[in-house]
Amino acid sequence: MTEHVLIERDGAILTIRLNRPEKKNALTRAMYHAMGAGLRQAAADGGVHVVLLAGGQDFTAGNDIGDFAAAGERDPKDPGAAFDFLEAITGFAKPVIAAVRGNAVGIGTTMLLHCDVVVASETARLMMPFTRLALCPEAGSSLLMPARVGPALANWWLLAGAGFSGAEAAAAGLATRAVPDAEVEATATRMAVTLAALPTGSVQASKRLIRAPHAAALKEAMAAERVTFGERLRSAEAQAAFAGFLKKAG
Ligand code: COA
Repeated sequence: MTEHVLIERDGAILTIRLNRPEKKNALTRAMYHAMGAGLRQAAADGGVHVVLLAGGQDFTAGNDIGDFAAAGERDPKDPGAAFDFLEAITGFAKPVIAAVRGNAVGIGTTMLLHCDVVVASETARLMMPFTRLALCPEAGSSLLMPARVGPALANWWLLAGAGFSGAEAAAAGLATRAVPDAEVEATATRMAVTLAALPTGSVQASKRLIRAPHAAALKEAMAAERVTFGERLRSAEAQAAFAGFLKKAG
């Protein structure tokens, strides 16, 4: 396990908190596995009704770019740690609430599509810079983002990697609510308490019904993304982009 992910249980709410502030909560393989393990723990524990997914001053700067750069050394058949987490969150039956402050980059934005409630700081900075890194959309975002915010915005965000604020995310329907930065955690907790108090069977049946129309297409989209993402990750274009970031980071 890693100290970069904290799992905290308070009554019926289990919080998975990203805790690598010095790297803006960039996600390592160990962190993905810990997040997946947290979700599996929450699934197995009947006393947990809701999961809160949070960071600190930043939600997450996305996949650790050093890990991306090392992808070429791994077995191409290795599904990758992000996949482990994505499989856990897409199959998770209980409600997930995200509390988003600061940077939410790459999978930091796309994982929100798998959360049932998203509370964003008005000043949060969201971005899916996949093409800037010579990659492609992941986490089902090629299907779910246009469905969520409409193709016009999704195209710009996914093709140009254009950034947007938490306020814009709420206006577009990606976030449930945008609130002042200082109120993000309290608002998300209040909403978690509300959901946790409702009949769990009913909440979970409702979540299943809400997700059902996209379930088969999502599986298909994620399988296609996985193939292309794996190819892109190992491409010369992407490796050059990672090297550029790592050189700048020194
Ligand atoms: N992978 C690895 N390290 C990362 C990282 C990432 N995704 N994001 C940030 N870091 C590291 C930086 O290298 C820096 O490390 P250092 O202090 O050892 O030099 C530290 O975190 C702080 O980041 P910094 O860039 O100085 O902060 P900032 O406030 O100026 O910018 C971001 C924040 C998120 C805009 C910027 O760090 C960034 O663009 N990160 C990459 C995001 C990305 O492309 N993710 C992958 C998406 S698919």
